[in-house]
Amino acid sequence: MGIINQRKNPDRELKSSVIQREGNSGINTLPDYRIPTGVPPVPRNTQGESDLYLKPVNAVDHYSSKEESSRPVVPFTGGWMEKKLSADHMKFLWDMIGNKGETCGEMLAGHVMDSYYLEDKEDYFYVNVLDPLMQEYMHNFGNPGDKIAVNNLHPFCLHKWWVNYQRQGEYNPTHDHTGCFSFVIWMKIPYTNEEQNETGTNPEVEIAKRAGQMSGHASNGSFEFHYTDIFGASHSFWYDMGTPLEGTMLLFPSNLKHQVYPFFNNDEYRISISGNIVLNTNTKIPVEMNTDLPDFVEPGKLERNHHSTGTSIVSLPEHTGKKIGEYHYPPYNDINEKLFHIIQDLGSGKTGVNPEEAHCTMTDWDLYSSQEHVKTMVDWVQRIIDDQFDPPEHDFKTVETWAVTYKEGEDIEWHNHGISCYSFVYYVNVPEGSSPLLFQNPEGIIDPKPGKVVIFESRMKHKVPPNKCNGRCAVSGNIFLKKHREL
Ligand SMILES: [Fe+2]
Ligand SMILES: [Fe+2]
Repeated sequence: MGIINQRKNPDRELKSSVIQREGNSGINTLPDYRIPTGVPPVPRNTQGESDLYLKPVNAVDHYSSKEESSRPVVPFTGGWMEKKLSADHMKFLWDMIGNKGETCGEMLAGHVMDSYYLEDKEDYFYVNVLDPLMQEYMHNFGNPGDKIAVNNLHPFCLHKWWVNYQRQGEYNPTHDHTGCFSFVIWMKIPYTNEEQNETGTNPEVEIAKRAGQMSGHASNGSFEFHYTDIFGASHSFWYDMGTPLEGTMLLFPSNLKHQVYPFFNNDEYRISISGNIVLNTNTKIPVEMNTDLPDFVEPGKLERNHHSTGTSIVSLPEHTGKKIGEYHYPPYNDINEKLFHIIQDLGSGKTGVNPEEAHCTMTDWDLYSSQEHVKTMVDWVQRIIDDQFDPPEHDFKTVETWAVTYKEGEDIEWHNHGISCYSFVYYVNVPEGSSPLLFQNPEGIIDPKPGKVVIFESRMKHKVPPNKCNGRCAVSGNIFLKKHREL
């Protein structure tokens, strides 16, 4: 691969090379932290990397042991993901480069003349490469988005990405990026590391050779990450660039400093792609609650959002047997009055997920987990979906559930429920003058009644025209059919 983590004194480094996460002392630290491969400070050798690890000692065993013992403790510091892209993904990237947009060189730190914005057609690269790689990163190192202070949950999005055409002599000085994640992809490297640093007779190669002897590393044409250890001492991690690294991608936290060295004696372009992933604060993520989770899915991760779960949402086929159904929830008489008062006490939600179309009072979206009566009703709704709607194959379901109350004159405009699969509404309080629920395609008018449940495909557009009384109240929800995504 041409990747060298260059060290001046390998023997000494070897002794301090144990990566060991110290217990699980922090709150919400990753419970299943696994030792990543290919990241510092693990040195590589030709005998196989496993020789280099000291077997981690379980903290409990260690502290409770009566025997004399000792163990190395190396706190975890962080890292990045390295990925070799498939031929299909590379083809997509070359196609995007073929349709590159405006020049963006003046926006960048580098001394590289030609850079152009790219488009991610139909979010193909984000969905198929970036998102899964971010899942892997978060699995290993945690979520850098958690450190950004915002009042709501927001999904990640690809903010900008661009292609760089680097000519000989051009370089990118030490810099970092804006965003949560950044990435680089080496598309074309028209030289080998040896040509640049060892085998040539050009003055640049001679200088590199001499510098390599003095400092331990010759750097023509290389890529370097800078990082510090727990003592604050700075270190380098080198990617000794060359043709074998074509198709390699690095996903790293945006604040990780790095630089790109110039190459020489070659008239071709070195072509790379860079980009940043940010929190999309234009979109808020409602709280999603877990229903029938299988054991292998970690609930803590699922409750955050639809995009960072290691799962994918199953979409309904174009034609389905049943699009909408009306039902009556048997125990409605026992619960509605109590539920109505609970909903009025809850008032407006604090997470601010009220959609623009909704002119009414909307609670937070966590009623499934916070209200036992709601949970029982939603479980009943899910059984009806399984029995009567013939849902497509899925591993499990999750839900979002909230309540709405309409005063006189309030309404909700035409809308649908986005990426969820099925939605429902359960009527809690229906005074005289309560507006009906209207559907667009197929057209339909549904009169609300206490205890009535309407279940419908989430993609169906619907609205509630201006209400003619105070206190029309319903519990609504979205049901997501999900599949576990193998990482
Ligand atoms: Fe960069
Ligand atoms: Fe709705």
